[in-house]
Amino acid sequence: MLNEHQLASYHQDGFCVIPNFKDLQQCQDLQYRAEQIVADAAVEDISIFTTTEQQRNADDYFLSSGDKIRCFFEEEAIDDQRKLKIDKKLAINKLGHAMHQYDPVFSRFSCDLKLQQICRQIGFTDPRLLQSMYIFKQPRIGGEVNIHQDSTFLYTDPLSVVGFWFALEDATLENGCLWGLAGGHKTPLEKIMKRKSDDMGIEFENLKDNRYLADDFTPLPVKAGTLIMFDGRFPHFSKANRSDKTRHAYTLHIIEGSAHYPEFNWLQREDKQPFPSFDSLLSALQNPL
Ligand code: FE2
Repeated sequence: MLNEHQLASYHQDGFCVIPNFKDLQQCQDLQYRAEQIVADAAVEDISIFTTTEQQRNADDYFLSSGDKIRCFFEEEAIDDQRKLKIDKKLAINKLGHAMHQYDPVFSRFSCDLKLQQICRQIGFTDPRLLQSMYIFKQPRIGGEVNIHQDSTFLYTDPLSVVGFWFALEDATLENGCLWGLAGGHKTPLEKIMKRKSDDMGIEFENLKDNRYLADDFTPLPVKAGTLIMFDGRFPHFSKANRSDKTRHAYTLHIIEGSAHYPEFNWLQREDKQPFPSFDSLLSALQNPL
């Protein structure tokens, strides 16, 4: 559970930092599993992930990944013929977007009772695990993630998404730690990313221009095992990783089950099943098919 200071910080600043939320063994287990998934992945179907070219890269592979485990590659690791220029394990940008449900190692990491309690503490009545991402932030080519609010991509009415960002390795200024704008969660939602009506790609609906300045953001360097949790309107970004170290992180996004989840959101389950609760994931882990 969050202590009084952490809870106050979450409400006032839109985020809070919880050191030692996971132990190093848990972090290493997840890293090992992610590397196995990449090693087993076929690379015929190359899909690039970059937030600077998000519109162009929102292909069907991305749009249908909401209930799957898929690999997305770094733009700088792909040549003009869409072939990998470097070793697959160093070319991967992220895994997404349902490891929490379909991989037992990720499920165990995600079904954390402490996390469930925190969700209740910050006001969730029916927390649903919507999305997971494993972010590699590779040495030298780990792409920047530009300033955004997570509710832009995971919209509910009323807004409810909370991001849980786990550092699996030390995140530093050199390898591309998170940066955030304290109190920025009180600014309006700038835009909403929507599927186009013909389902061919995505578009943005602009709501407001908050004119964020990167100079107003503060870096959030943290040790491995730290959890940073933040409100869906908390503006944040990370710079490119030009160092020779990786910066692995795992993120979970949780929404309120009673909030309306529109069909225009990019993340839709092809099986039309509801997003899982902590309890349903726990029972699936305890009673595997
Ligand atoms: Fe984000």
